[in-house]
Amino acid sequence: MRIFASLSLALLAVASVTASAQTPAAPQMPQVVAQTPPMGWNSWNYFAEKVTDKDIRDSADLIVSSGMKDAGYIYVNIDDTWEGERDAAGVLHTNSKFPDMKALADYVHSKGLKIGIYSGPGSKTCGGYAGSLGHEEQDAQMYAQWGIDYLKYDLCSFIPDVMEKQAPSDKAEQMRLMIAAYDKMSKALKATGRPIVLSLCQYGWDAVWEWAPALGGNLWRTTGDITPHWDRIYSIVSQQAGLESYAGPGHWNDPDMLEVGNGKLSLAENRTHFTLWAMLAAPLLAGNDLPHMKPEIKAILTNRDVIAIDQDPLGRQGVRAYSDGEVEVWTRQLQGGAIAVAIVAVGDSRYSTHPFHLNLAKLGLHGPQAGKDLWTGKPITLTDQQPIEIESHDVLLVRIDKPR
Ligand code: GLA
Repeated sequence: MRIFASLSLALLAVASVTASAQTPAAPQMPQVVAQTPPMGWNSWNYFAEKVTDKDIRDSADLIVSSGMKDAGYIYVNIDDTWEGERDAAGVLHTNSKFPDMKALADYVHSKGLKIGIYSGPGSKTCGGYAGSLGHEEQDAQMYAQWGIDYLKYDLCSFIPDVMEKQAPSDKAEQMRLMIAAYDKMSKALKATGRPIVLSLCQYGWDAVWEWAPALGGNLWRTTGDITPHWDRIYSIVSQQAGLESYAGPGHWNDPDMLEVGNGKLSLAENRTHFTLWAMLAAPLLAGNDLPHMKPEIKAILTNRDVIAIDQDPLGRQGVRAYSDGEVEVWTRQLQGGAIAVAIVAVGDSRYSTHPFHLNLAKLGLHGPQAGKDLWTGKPITLTDQQPIEIESHDVLLVRIDKPR
C-alpha cells in the first residue's frame, strides 16, 4: 500500500514536470474587477465607529438569508475604526473590536461573499485611526494575506499631513501629491497579485474622474458624504449630471453608499434614491441595519429589475434628459438597444407640476412606447404628452426593450 502510494506520487511528479515542460507558463492575467458597479454592503452609514466583528458576521449572514446575495450583493465592507496600533516592525494590528481579521475574512468568504476594508494615505483616517502613510506596501501585503477583496482609500489627514505641509501655497503640487498617493497604493495592491477593488474616497476633488481610471481606480467618490435626508440625496444627484462619460466597465462614478432603509426616509424617497443610483450606474453598497431590515426595504434593495438597470453590461451611465418644473426625466441606454426612463418628482408637493406631461421627443422617442413599470412589475405604455401624476419625491421607472 505504502509502495503504491509513493509510486503514484512519483508518477504524479513526473506528469507535472512533463506538463510544465510542454506548457508555457500561463501569462499573468490582468486584474478584472468591477466590470459592473460593485454591489455589497458597507458598515459606515448605519454602524459608523461602533461596528464590530460580530456586526460584520451578522451582516454577511443576513446578506445570504435575505436573498441579497442572490440578487448580486457580494462585497461586505468594513469601513473606518477597525484599526489598532502599529508595532515596532510597522505592522498594523486590529483593535479589540476586530480580534482576528483573517478569521473574519475566512468567515465572510465561507458564505460565498467577498470582504472589503478601509484605510487612507495619511497618518490618520477620517475617524482618527492609523492610516497607511509610509506603510503602503506593508499594508497592501497584509490585506492580501487576510484575503481582502476591496479597499476604500480615504484622503482625510493626507491633506494636512502631506499636501499642505509639503506644498503650502501650491494647489497644483498638492494635487500631484494626492494623485501620487493613490497611485502608490494602487501599485502596492497590484503587486500583491490579488484582485482587489480600489475605491478612491477624496470627495470628488480635482476632477478625480479625469485621472482615477488611469491609475487603476475602480470607483471614486464624486461628492462629500451622503446622509439619510432627501435634500442631501438630491443635492448629490444634481452633482452627477455631466459625469456620465467617465463611467464604464472597471471604473465608476461613486455618489456614495446607499442610505436605503436609514434615517427617516419615506418609502418613496428610498425607492427614488435606489432608482437614481441604478440610473447612475452607481456602486450599490447598502448601508442599513440588515438584521432589522423591514420587508419593504428588502423589497427595494432586491428588486431584480432595478438592479439589472444598475448592472447593465454596457456600463453606460444615465443622463438627465430634461426637467420640467419640479419633475426630472433621466434616461439610461442599455444593452441591446433598450432604454430605461426614470421620471422623478424632485420637489415638495406644493411645487410639483400637476400633472406632468411627458415629452417623448425630448428623449428621442416617437410614438407609443411599450415597456415595464419596474416598481409595480406591470406593463405600461408611455405616450407623448401623457399626463403623469407622481407624488413628491417618488418615481416612475420604465424599461423599454424596443424603443422607437
Ligand atoms: C469619510 C468618508 C465616509 C467614511 C468616514 C469614516 O467621511 O467619506 O464615507 O468612510 O470618513 O471615518
